[in-house]
Amino acid sequence: MKENQSYTGKISNKKIFYIETYGCQMNVADSELIKTIMNDEGYLLSNDITKADAIFVNTCAIRDHAEEKIHSQLGRFALLKKEKPETIIGVLGCMAQNLKHDLLENRPFVDIVLGPDSYRRIPELLKRKNTQKNSIVDTTLSRYEVYDGLFPHRDDKGVNAWVSIMRGCDKFCTFCIVPFTRGRERSRSKDSILDEVQKAVDAGYSEVTLLGQNVNSYLYNELNFENLLQSIAKTPSLKRIRYTSPHPSDITDELLSTMSRYQNICNYIHLPLQSGSDKILKRMNRTYTKNQFLKLTKKIRKILPNVGISTDIIVGFPGETNKDFYETIDIMNKVMFDSAFNFKYSSRPGTKASEYEDQIDEHEKQNRLEKIINLQKQHTLQRNQRLVGKVQSVLVEKESKMSNKQWAGRTDSNKWVIFDKQSARVNEIVSVLITKAQGITLRGELVKKVKAA
Ligand code: SAH
Ligand code: SF4
Ligand code: F3S
Repeated sequence: MKENQSYTGKISNKKIFYIETYGCQMNVADSELIKTIMNDEGYLLSNDITKADAIFVNTCAIRDHAEEKIHSQLGRFALLKKEKPETIIGVLGCMAQNLKHDLLENRPFVDIVLGPDSYRRIPELLKRKNTQKNSIVDTTLSRYEVYDGLFPHRDDKGVNAWVSIMRGCDKFCTFCIVPFTRGRERSRSKDSILDEVQKAVDAGYSEVTLLGQNVNSYLYNELNFENLLQSIAKTPSLKRIRYTSPHPSDITDELLSTMSRYQNICNYIHLPLQSGSDKILKRMNRTYTKNQFLKLTKKIRKILPNVGISTDIIVGFPGETNKDFYETIDIMNKVMFDSAFNFKYSSRPGTKASEYEDQIDEHEKQNRLEKIINLQKQHTLQRNQRLVGKVQSVLVEKESKMSNKQWAGRTDSNKWVIFDKQSARVNEIVSVLITKAQGITLRGELVKKVKAA
């Protein structure tokens, strides 16, 4: 493995590349793989776009808004290309897959268009680009590519390392573009995952977050997600393990029991609900009912008493009546999520729901969104207030944005806590007495250091 290399501003005969990443953690992890590939090709990473010989954007197609942001960035890249025509512009990731024709027709300055399974071709395409004027496109989706053997280029001095364990999605929720942009589910071998986890620990990382579009659908030969978690949890000096995103239908009793048995598997589950209405859930192809989801959250809280549960909710899905919407409000009130990502439904061309005729008016969607955002704020505060007066194990992650005398770290249940630095250091797990719940964050005081798990 080569060392991570970044551009330091000194004169060098190496070329420079720049990469911007949008979308989910999976894209962040993919960009780390791309950085390794580019380093190996002799390119140094720089944050200064004007110096770059190659400019890449790793794109997201999940909602209209995500695509709009990228279109406006591409306008900026076009200007840079005008000034420096030899710059290579690459559009990578989920939008590349979905919009290749549009990109090629309307953005002739784009040199390379690559889908998420084609990154191993970057070196070959960069070389080919020297002799070829036309844009090069590869958006083929693979049934096998899991980027085994490619070690991500991570930022120095990190706390959390993203480790992708599976790729793709076979669930085909009717609103979602992911199964089309990322293709079929496939899992990475246990050995290669354990190797990457060990390397991250050796490099000083305290926490790993296992990634997959449906992380708990992981299956490699006979090995399932909970088996994998058990093996990872035994890694010496690995303080914390998180994972995202699981599908509610694939949360098994064995997974919950594994989480309760291993101290270093965090007490936190991101459990995407999407809607509280059975009619809408069915139309979304979510494979569970409101009652099943409620029962599941009850079971989770029984087996993992201090668990943090967050969710994703979509409002304004086609056909969502006021009654359906109030089913969502009702389940929110019943579950009391610790936090939630709330979205307005965004029609994605090519998905089944985009063909439904009963699309909801934008103004109504906005109204509903504001309602659930406000409700969630109250729930988050109430859930956080329950921790006031209690001592929590907090992994120190970074300096607080508010003060250089304070640290920001996360509880096991994934809540941010701000506290005076004193003798604590980044990457340590410390005991913090929670003194106040403020908005989405907690305030606290250092009690004493806790030994690594
Ligand atoms: N596999 C992940 C989903 C990743 S997308 C999971 O099932 O959790 C993250 C979230 O984006 C989804 O949970 C959903 O709430 C939201 N989302 C996906 N498609 C959307 C669309 N067309 N409009 C609005 N929100 C969408
Ligand atoms: Fe999209 Fe559903 Fe797959 Fe999640 S499970 S990526 S929401 S299709
Ligand atoms: Fe976006 Fe692709 Fe992730 S569409 S949310 S970057 S899987």
